[in-house]
Amino acid sequence: MASTRGEFSSRFGFVMAAAGSAVGLGNIWGFPTQAASNGGAAFLLVYLILAFTLAYPALMAELIIGRHAHANAVNALRLISTGPATHKIGTTVGVIGFIVAGMILSFYAIVAGWMISFCLASLAEFFGMQAVADWLTSFGMTRNLFFMLIFLVLTVGIISEGVREGIERWSARLMPLLLVSLILLVLYVCTLDGAMEGLKVYLLPDFERALSPKLIIAALGSAFFSLSLGVGTMLIYGSYISDEENLPVVGGLVTTVDIMIAVIAGFLVLPAMYVALHNGVEIFTASGALISEDTLIFTVLPELFATMGLAGIVVSFIFFFLMSIAALTSSISMLEVPVAYTIEEHGLSRKTAVYGIGCAIAVFSATILVNFETLFGLVIAFTTRYSQPILGFMFCVYAGWVWQRDKVLKEVQKGSPQVEHTLFWKIWPWYVKLVCPVVILAIFAQSLWGG
Ligand code: PHE
Repeated sequence: MASTRGEFSSRFGFVMAAAGSAVGLGNIWGFPTQAASNGGAAFLLVYLILAFTLAYPALMAELIIGRHAHANAVNALRLISTGPATHKIGTTVGVIGFIVAGMILSFYAIVAGWMISFCLASLAEFFGMQAVADWLTSFGMTRNLFFMLIFLVLTVGIISEGVREGIERWSARLMPLLLVSLILLVLYVCTLDGAMEGLKVYLLPDFERALSPKLIIAALGSAFFSLSLGVGTMLIYGSYISDEENLPVVGGLVTTVDIMIAVIAGFLVLPAMYVALHNGVEIFTASGALISEDTLIFTVLPELFATMGLAGIVVSFIFFFLMSIAALTSSISMLEVPVAYTIEEHGLSRKTAVYGIGCAIAVFSATILVNFETLFGLVIAFTTRYSQPILGFMFCVYAGWVWQRDKVLKEVQKGSPQVEHTLFWKIWPWYVKLVCPVVILAIFAQSLWGG
């Protein structure tokens, strides 16, 4: 079965693909800005602890279910179901998962389109085409639609090539490029005046904040989004891993790469904000808080680059290129979720499934753009704030409660006969059964009622 549905060719290929999915706008944009406004190193510390103790076990649940079933989320959850009720609920969770993955892709494509247009704007500026650069960086319907479509065409192009030729090949090419450009940027920005101030904010913990429940919730949400949990992405990538592979180890590698890149991105974005301040750019809001979210990426950083002359143009190009790559290796993993389901459930060819679903997502993205004020924030909140935690909770319930424990452990043992003697073996089953579901529910409750 596995051979007809595609399989990653090597451990490196899988780790690049899964880390590519995990490392996205969430790491390079979301994490540093949250760290900036939530106590710097205190946020970093809480994030590190939560990522390893909670997000990693939840990631393992998806990888293990996926590898066991060698199938998409719907079939995988059905396979481990023990009765008609769990069978039905499993089907529903899988189907909602792929719809949510498609919805995440539709807003992600809009933001990623902006990254591409800002990247091209640096080129236009370099060649002295100021009018073009201005068009590329100003918020307009034509620009938004055009670059959203360009980004979706790239995503569709890669996914239509399949698991090895598409996902694995492109992730293995783009991820090292991403790491190198990120490190080059960090090294450069840290030499600029004002950078040390930013480093201090990042590295000196404000422990009073570390104990606040709001910070813990923010860090957890960030870790779950960042590891692409809850929508079946990691489950489907897990289903393409060979039975000889040691799952706890590869899952650990993916978590480590994901966290490492978020932490390194912090060394870029926080110093850059303070370099901007040093160069006279406003980085605080009227209430005295640090500017974050879209204002940071699309206003503060471009203003900073503008104060840096030719170097600013080069840095800007590399920065937005890096963001576009990060977004692309994540978006392909989102598209693979509905595509795999459609191929396996309805017997369509990969190309037909990819083009059909790609068009549907483009239409949905365009609808968001046309109703930007009402829909954009709504779709983000619905998918990341509500759907991801509930679906993540359901995956843990299936791995911890529905699936028989001895079968789960057998699956873990497949590529790692020594696993019985490890801490993972002793702790993980309890984590996924009790700790993860309870904590995910707590985040969800907080995001619903905690404001
Ligand atoms: N992990 C991606 C990021 O950090 C987002 C993502 C969410 C990817 C869900 C796939 C599925 O940007």
